[in-house]
Amino acid sequence: MTILVTGSAGFIGANFVLDWLAAHDEKVISLDKLTYAGNRQNLASLEGDARHLFVQGDIGDDALVAKLLAEHQPRAILNFAAESHVDRSIHGPEDFIQTNIVGTFRLLEAVRAYWNALPEADKQAFRFLHVSTDEVYGSLSPTDPAFKESNKYEPNSPYSASKAASDHLVRAYHHTYGLPVLTTNCSNNYGPYHFPEKLIPLIIHNALAGKPLPIYGDGQQIRDWLYVKDHCSAIRRVLEAGQLGETYNVGGWNEKANIDVVHTLCDILDQEQPRADGRSYREQITFVKDRPGHDRRYAIDASRLERELGWKPAETFETGIRKTVRWYLDNQAWVNNVTSGAYREWVGKQYA
Ligand code: NAD
Ligand code: DAU
Repeated sequence: MTILVTGSAGFIGANFVLDWLAAHDEKVISLDKLTYAGNRQNLASLEGDARHLFVQGDIGDDALVAKLLAEHQPRAILNFAAESHVDRSIHGPEDFIQTNIVGTFRLLEAVRAYWNALPEADKQAFRFLHVSTDEVYGSLSPTDPAFKESNKYEPNSPYSASKAASDHLVRAYHHTYGLPVLTTNCSNNYGPYHFPEKLIPLIIHNALAGKPLPIYGDGQQIRDWLYVKDHCSAIRRVLEAGQLGETYNVGGWNEKANIDVVHTLCDILDQEQPRADGRSYREQITFVKDRPGHDRRYAIDASRLERELGWKPAETFETGIRKTVRWYLDNQAWVNNVTSGAYREWVGKQYA
């Protein structure tokens, strides 16, 4: 048995593959383009593991995908590959359209051809699981109920619009062609291997480097945080038991204002790695220009996943965030490696 995982050198994809192979003896084919966000080092512990094959390539390269499918005959495909950073989508949406929309379309086409040719029993068992985001639902007011699967799509950024388009394509391939698809819409993840362009790893990195901790606008925007390994366990559960053609919201019931997340990180760092001058990392907090079109609040209602598939997160925000800070303190070589070169150009442009 084999699964194919796209975007496996990125933050969530890498965590998924590492956790999968820690628990299953099933071969994994990793397909990743290795953009700035993809890092072979994330999968370094699998070097020499015969159960894992890494292939550098684009989900939009239909000839490559068709060849991989024909050679390895996967029973499932998990699509994590995407351009994922909202701020980058504001500076330059083109790559988001190419990978998230055109790339997903080409991947679906290659998968449809492969699936159509499978023997009936394998056809029935096959799954295409598409990993998506809560951002497709738009922004909530402080009193709105959390997003349910039945909420309408109201994406506000080029990133979320491109993910919404990909979700629609996946849905249409089920409805029209019968492709056995599943979609998950998850809230903000955090944990090991999170690229330091995103809030939590950026704050940890800047704090330790003695740099300003940039808070967009008033810092009162709310995100709903989930430890990445809980997201991975939810995906495994949906793959195993999800109803075909359905979508599942994934979240940790952890709504936090950005400023509170940053205060928590500063307080943990004050305990774990105090500043040389004995003052708090909170002194590095700097309010900066807001993100254009910044969504005010996301909140996920994950009750369907719990009710129908019995999934619950294992970590609270308090336990997960401590583990995360510890991981970054223990993995400074990884941070130094990913924050060289192109990363500095991005930070220069975004926070100029
Ligand atoms: P990431 O940016 O860390 O990783 C994306 C990976 O995809 C990288 O390894 C990159 O090289 C690869 N990739 C990009 N374009 C590709 C292409 N055309 N072909 C093959 N590979 C390509 O992203 P992430 O945070 O790990 O997110 C993974 C998925 O989960 C995305 O689909 C994202 O929309 C979704 N998601 C992320 C979060 C979050 O909080 N990070 C929350 C919910 C959903
Ligand atoms: O909700 C799920 C989404 O979460 C995923 O689909 C995206 O791929 C992922 O990047 C993430 O999007 P966000 O925009 O919510 O994450 P980010 O870490 O970029 O920002 C989190 C919040 O922190 C957001 O309100 C913007 C704010 N922020 C971010 C940065 C980078 C700051 O205040 N300062 C910053 O420097």
